[in-house]
This record gives sequence, C-alpha cells and structure tokens, in this order.
Amino acid sequence: MKKLVVANWKMNPQSYAEAERLARAVLKLNRGLKNVETVLCPPFTWLTDLSHKYARKIAFGAQDVFWQPKGAFTGEISPDMLRSSKVSYVIIGHSERRRHLGETDEMVNKKIHAALGNGLRIILCIGESLQEHKRGQTKSILRRQLKKDLAKISPSLIPYPLSLAIAYEPIWAIGTGLPETPKNADNVAKFIRRELAKHFPKKIANNIRIIYGGSVDSRNIIGYLAMTQIIGALVGGASLNAKDFIKILQIADQI
Ligand code: PGA
Repeated sequence: MKKLVVANWKMNPQSYAEAERLARAVLKLNRGLKNVETVLCPPFTWLTDLSHKYARKIAFGAQDVFWQPKGAFTGEISPDMLRSSKVSYVIIGHSERRRHLGETDEMVNKKIHAALGNGLRIILCIGESLQEHKRGQTKSILRRQLKKDLAKISPSLIPYPLSLAIAYEPIWAIGTGLPETPKNADNVAKFIRRELAKHFPKKIANNIRIIYGGSVDSRNIIGYLAMTQIIGALVGGASLNAKDFIKILQIADQI
C-alpha cells in the first residue's frame, strides 16, 4: 500500500506566486517517488489554479467541501465543482473547522456522504482535545466521532478502500511542536482500525489508510512511518517549507 502524505497548507501562503513556487518545488521531486502518494491541499483561491495546471502530475485536495450539489449557499463549494476542477481529495472534519466554525459530526457526516457520492476521496480528521486526552477519554471520543461521522456510509459508497483515509490528529499536537509519540499514535491507529471493522467489512476496514497528523516534520516522520498501522501523515506547518516537506516525502518513499 502506498503511503499517503498530505500537505495541509491551511490559510497559507498569502500570494499565488508563493503557492506556485511551493507546488513546483514539490512537483519536481514527486515525479520520482514510487511508494508515496502526495496530496497538496492549498486554500481554495490557489487550489483550482494549481489543479488545472498540475493535476496530471500530482494529486490535489480541498480543505473542505459543502454537502449540497448546487444553489443558494453563499461561500460554499460543491463536490462537483471540485471534481470538475480536477481536485481528487478533500479533507473533512479538521479540528480547526470543528472548533472555529462550529462544524459538528452531523455536518461532517453529510459532507462525507456528498463527497463520496461524487467520487472524491476523503481524508477524515478525528482527534481528542488536551483535556479529553488528560482524562483518558481518547478512545471514547474517537469512537463517538467515527460512529457519527461515518453514520450510514454504506460499503457501496466506498468503491475501494483508498477512497477513505482516517487522519488521527490529537488536537493538542497540532501546530504545537508537541507531537504524540509514534508508539502511542500507533496504538490509537490500531484502535481506529478495530472501530472501522464495526462499520465496514474486514476487506475494506483493513485497507483504509490511517495516517497521523500533529507537528509532523522531517525529523520525526520516520518514527511514525516505521509503525505498522500508520500509513502516512497529514502535515501542516512543515508542508509550507519546501525543503522540509520534500525531505518528508523522500523519507516516506524509502521506508
Ligand atoms: P501541523 O498541522 O503539522 O502544523 O501540526 C497538522 C494539521 O493540522 O493537519
């Protein structure tokens, strides 16, 4: 199974020129990679310019999507729009959207339905807060998120397991420089895998990629990818530095 390395640029960089420079630096290296699937997720303004230009060379993902197909939904973007802009992935349920924009599990679930139904591949983000972590509630939080986020997602919506990836992103590890240890993250990934088997037939559950996100960089990536259940990474801050991100891709390709 190819590793999935996703660059979540969030609300960066601030100009198209910078965005294109970053994308081109990654593209140059990406051509030679055999064991990694790289997905660039720029903000919407840069996303479609870049995807129209470079989607034949690298995969692009959106950082969000709306569940309605079209109509009076000011500010929103439909799955179809993404598809027709050569965007193949979408990040759904990132904790920053849950926290700052009030995105609920019900909304996440509707987005997953709509996106899968339109042939997009999903990167579903789940994770616990620091308080929940300290109280030992990680598993119960993740179980609840998976149950609600994947409600009524029938196996037929998942034509092949690569259509769905789960990003385990402990909220307290995001952007803090304090990542979860590879061993603990791997244990959580094992738990997620067991939970997935409650939702889907074994054949699908065993092949859904579980990736880790939260302060991943070129120095610590090797630890995560050496684990048995972690098949990639969702990279925020370090994906904005071409050198750092390229190093992450090279390490992922070699492992
Ligand atoms: P980070 O962000 O790598 O900057 O911690 C990860 C994410 O939010 O996806």
